[in-house]
Amino acid sequence: MASQKKIACIGAGYVGGPTMAVIAQKCPQCTVTVVDINQKRINVWNSDTLPFYEPGLDDIVNTVRGKNLFFSTEVEKAIIENDIIFIAVNTPTKDYGVGKNMAADLQHWETIARQIRNVARSNKIIIEKSTLPVKTAEAMEIILNTGSQFHFEVMSNPEFLAEGTAVNNLLSPDRVLIGSRETESGQKARNELVEIYKSWVPLEKIITTNTFSAELTKLVSNAFLAQRVSSINAVSAICEATGADVDEVSKAVGADSRIGAKFLKASVGFGGSCFRKDILNLVYICRMYHLHEIATYFENIINMNSFQQQRFVDNIVQSMFNTVAGRKICMLGCAFKACTDDVRDSPALSVATTLIAEKANLVISDPKAMTNMKAALGDLKNVEFIDDPYQAAKKCHAIVIITEWDVYATLDYKKLFDRMVKPAYLFDGRNMVNRKTCYDIGFNVYSIGKEPLIH
Ligand SMILES: NC(=O)c1ccc[n+]([C@@H]2O[C@H](COP(=O)([O-])OP(=O)(O)OC[C@H]3O[C@@H](n4cnc5c(N)ncnc54)[C@H](O)[C@@H]3O)[C@@H](O)[C@H]2O)c1
Repeated sequence: MASQKKIACIGAGYVGGPTMAVIAQKCPQCTVTVVDINQKRINVWNSDTLPFYEPGLDDIVNTVRGKNLFFSTEVEKAIIENDIIFIAVNTPTKDYGVGKNMAADLQHWETIARQIRNVARSNKIIIEKSTLPVKTAEAMEIILNTGSQFHFEVMSNPEFLAEGTAVNNLLSPDRVLIGSRETESGQKARNELVEIYKSWVPLEKIITTNTFSAELTKLVSNAFLAQRVSSINAVSAICEATGADVDEVSKAVGADSRIGAKFLKASVGFGGSCFRKDILNLVYICRMYHLHEIATYFENIINMNSFQQQRFVDNIVQSMFNTVAGRKICMLGCAFKACTDDVRDSPALSVATTLIAEKANLVISDPKAMTNMKAALGDLKNVEFIDDPYQAAKKCHAIVIITEWDVYATLDYKKLFDRMVKPAYLFDGRNMVNRKTCYDIGFNVYSIGKEPLIH
């Protein structure tokens, strides 16, 4: 069991909140304080509802909040009072200046490093939880240790949780990665962190490396995951052209134990706040080191994803006689994946924007992500939000499935069909409906990587 520790986390987002809740639950002798500059977010963490939907998280938070888990906006107090400080602030793609649209925006990180140096009254262990470019820890150490009487040991401990399964991922991680220096203070800090994790993670799953390797591993892991999705999506286009079936190809390819079955599901494309951002970050790093061919190699993962999303929406327009102007289209799902309310970089955004530009009337339905989608689309005209899928599909010309919510596999498609304008179209961006049944009901069915079933 980890000895008594005082832990703070700066950043109460999708990573900071769940990660700290699990640490608080598994290390009851530690006191964990999560701080954020966003007062509204902290208020919600301290209320009966959580700031975002994450299955199983409310149970954990309810057992530890107010006991050894606290949420607050008092960032400086947290810095002063805690010895171990995780930093889980957002690191979005830079949208200005050098590296615009590619490099990670490190302004929050730099601000925090300077704040820590200015207010700290004792030595600290600083842990990168955010996803950062390689060598950020080194840069932070320089900022922190320049002109300070205290010692700051910066380590990398990237987070591999996936939204929608964050609690399970945190409770039973495939691995925990800790990157640190091999100096005496680096080893001591590493041992402190290992001690926390070993409260519930088997030691053989705790991988320790040098700091640079840990920082790079996070970017490479996301690039590899996204690359599998882009590869099978590339194959889906070949399947549509040749009459092969992408699900059959995927199953047979994934059965090879050297390849494995996960992340080989063809779809409208990947989304989320991380894949695109982290790959762009990797591409930018490659360019900085003049590794241009390698940059192009990784960049094509993103290009393929954009192509797949565009191909999907082009197919909708072309199949509906080359115009969707004035047509009512029902979008089922707008979260970037099932079991989350997050729409950041969701394919729903690009599909919706294109359909609206084509003058379609859009009706969007999603079990959890409607509020975020409304905020993301802003004041766009011709968009309605309706919870009930059967109401949403009423008088629509087409249904477009974007998110793989289980419920969409079991909807009564006959009931939906009966409420729609004919001919009724079904564009399944997640290959989750029973194609034959829907075709027999009367739909024209368009799946990813399969021949369309058209009446
Ligand atoms: N979301 C994921 O699935 C996921 C998974 C693994 C890693 N990551 C990485 O973790 C990091 C955080 O991601 P997230 O999704 O939790 O972001 P988020 O936007 O949900 O949360 C970040 C929080 O940091 C706060 N913040 C920013 N600057 C601050 C400051 N100076 N002081 C205090 N608080 C500040 C923001 O107010 C926000 O609440 C990113 O680097 C991301 O790439 C995310």
